[in-house]
Amino acid sequence: MSIVITGANGQLGSLIIEQLLQKVSADQIVACVRHPEKAIAYQKQGIEVRYCDYDQPESLEQAFTGASKLLLISSSNPDDTIRLRQHAHVIEAAKQSKVEHLLYTSFAFLGVGSIAPSHLHLATEHAILTTGIPHTFLRNALYTDFVGVLGLDTALTSGELSIYPGDWQFNTVTRSDLAKGTAAVLTESGHEHQSYELTAPRPWTFHDLVIVLSELAGKPVSLRQDPQIHNWIYGFLRKIDTSSTSADLEKLIGGPVTSLKESIQPFITVQYQ
Ligand SMILES: NC(=O)c1ccc[n+]([C@@H]2O[C@H](COP(=O)([O-])OP(=O)(O)OC[C@H]3O[C@@H](n4cnc5c(N)ncnc54)[C@H](OP(=O)(O)O)[C@@H]3O)[C@@H](O)[C@H]2O)c1
Repeated sequence: MSIVITGANGQLGSLIIEQLLQKVSADQIVACVRHPEKAIAYQKQGIEVRYCDYDQPESLEQAFTGASKLLLISSSNPDDTIRLRQHAHVIEAAKQSKVEHLLYTSFAFLGVGSIAPSHLHLATEHAILTTGIPHTFLRNALYTDFVGVLGLDTALTSGELSIYPGDWQFNTVTRSDLAKGTAAVLTESGHEHQSYELTAPRPWTFHDLVIVLSELAGKPVSLRQDPQIHNWIYGFLRKIDTSSTSADLEKLIGGPVTSLKESIQPFITVQYQ
């Protein structure tokens, strides 16, 4: 069995490989990267490193040779038209290389409304379906990282979190939890032809966030709705489904997802107590 991961030097890819190493031996993992010189640590652990650039179709067939499972981590290119072409290169190469099972990091609840990332991810999912290769769509929620632009440090020092008015609800999760769920799918049988909505099992709100901030600060942090706030994040959040939830991720990882309190701590840099 050979589990081949693209984007292996990226944040999610690295965490998935960390999780895989707890389940299978290093010689069963292949890390596909754009910059092999940055993947020396993998080689030292006994993981095979292969060059793979979504823009270089000739690099891909060789990179995917012998894959019983290939995980395509969606491209980070900011232009969705380019991303779609890159994904098509990977899918075509997966077919030529006779990959046995193709998995893709899609986006959660694409079918709801006219949401921004849906065109790319639905198009990629459909392209994968055209190959007939057994597939699994790992529809990842928004990473909880988005809290990093909300001004948590300011809220902790000032005692007030200012947000744009609205009935906001969030189904976000950490990359670590997504990596655990993905590693489970990559190492277990029975996940072919499945789509998983990898979100938090229950939505959280800004009220929940200020409760957690108050606990961390050891003093009350209140919520202030401010229509004058100009932060790009609110426009983005409106374009995606941040409220629908699913138990898929907790089922895959066999336990609760990381708490909100723990999830936000990497995004706090001030001494708050
Ligand atoms: N759910 C969410 O909230 C969310 C948020 C942001 C992004 N995403 C999506 O999820 C993916 C994984 O997230 P992440 O946090 O791991 O992102 P990341 O740290 O930016 O990693 C992206 C990976 O994609 C690789 N890549 C980019 N262009 C490539 C190309 N032409 N050929 C081969 N590899 C290429 C990068 O390679 P290098 O290491 O060589 O740069 C990197 O390893 C992102 O790429 C993006 O599509 C999801």
